[in-house]
Amino acid sequence: MELIHTVAAMQAQADDRRRAGKRLALIPTMGALHDGHLALVEAAKKHGDHLTVSLFVNPTQFAPGEDFERYPRTLDKDREALERIGGVDVLFVPSVEEMYPGGQAQQRIWVDVEQLDAHLCGRYRPGHFKGVVTVVAKLFLCCKPHAAVFGLKDAQQYLILRRLSRDLLFGVEVIGVPTVREPDGLALSSRNVYLSAEQRAQAVVVSQAVAAARQRIEQGEQHVQGVVETMLHTIAQAPAAQVQYAEVVSTETLQPLAQIEPGQDVLAAVAVFFGKTRLIDNAFVRAPDTTAGGVNRET
Ligand code: PAJ
Repeated sequence: MELIHTVAAMQAQADDRRRAGKRLALIPTMGALHDGHLALVEAAKKHGDHLTVSLFVNPTQFAPGEDFERYPRTLDKDREALERIGGVDVLFVPSVEEMYPGGQAQQRIWVDVEQLDAHLCGRYRPGHFKGVVTVVAKLFLCCKPHAAVFGLKDAQQYLILRRLSRDLLFGVEVIGVPTVREPDGLALSSRNVYLSAEQRAQAVVVSQAVAAARQRIEQGEQHVQGVVETMLHTIAQAPAAQVQYAEVVSTETLQPLAQIEPGQDVLAAVAVFFGKTRLIDNAFVRAPDTTAGGVNRET
């Protein structure tokens, strides 16, 4: 695995591999790698024959007061984990100065998001997705991938990045990988290390809430209010939990729904605080198509 630190070296390497006829796949991360990240690497092997993992804690997607400074940075361990699973050709670890020449305060040109960041996490983290799409656009320009792999755990991010590739004509195939979980259901996250033992035990309600939402929708519940109440009721079992949002939105527009149509693809999503630690989880659900099931009109 080759370690690359500069944008120029990364671009030259990507050009070279493209000329050699390779199909390049990129897995963007902020490091502190866990089995969720490693599942993305495994999935990427099916979509490319030259794999680049990028590791960059992107300052512009953290709001003032968020955890940019204390975000876990574990480069040596991350390198070892990637060497262990094998198949990664390049680890791209740029500095902030490489990615934001002159510093982020000097940047005048950004990629912006319309509408898709009005709800869910975007509503509570103003500027977050502008930082994410801008840095991912830069990573696309550095690593020149044919395909890029993201986790469905960050559902809004995944759906927005699909539109980044489409709307800005990057032509990068954006692939989503199902969420990797602890045995009790908690989604793996670099931020789980912040939880106390007590908070960790209670955090199981987060995945239970979205699982309960999935079940109700799959059973034919069409009133979103009922689904949301189920999620809130589940989370309320944990005394330490503070709900930020519990919503059911369209996977197309990311706008909240009042009513779920038969056969519709929806996203049930929650954000919950345990102390200062914010956990998110979600379920992509297709509502049952009531016209197809049950009554058979042809007989
Ligand atoms: P980070 O939080 O490090 O996550 C990197 C990738 O791993 C994302 O695509 C995320 O969705 C995925 N991921 C995290 N936990 C997962 C889990 N339990 N199962 C499956 N995939 C999981 O997301 C970011 O970094 C940044 O916003 C980034 C896209 C790198 C831009 O800075």
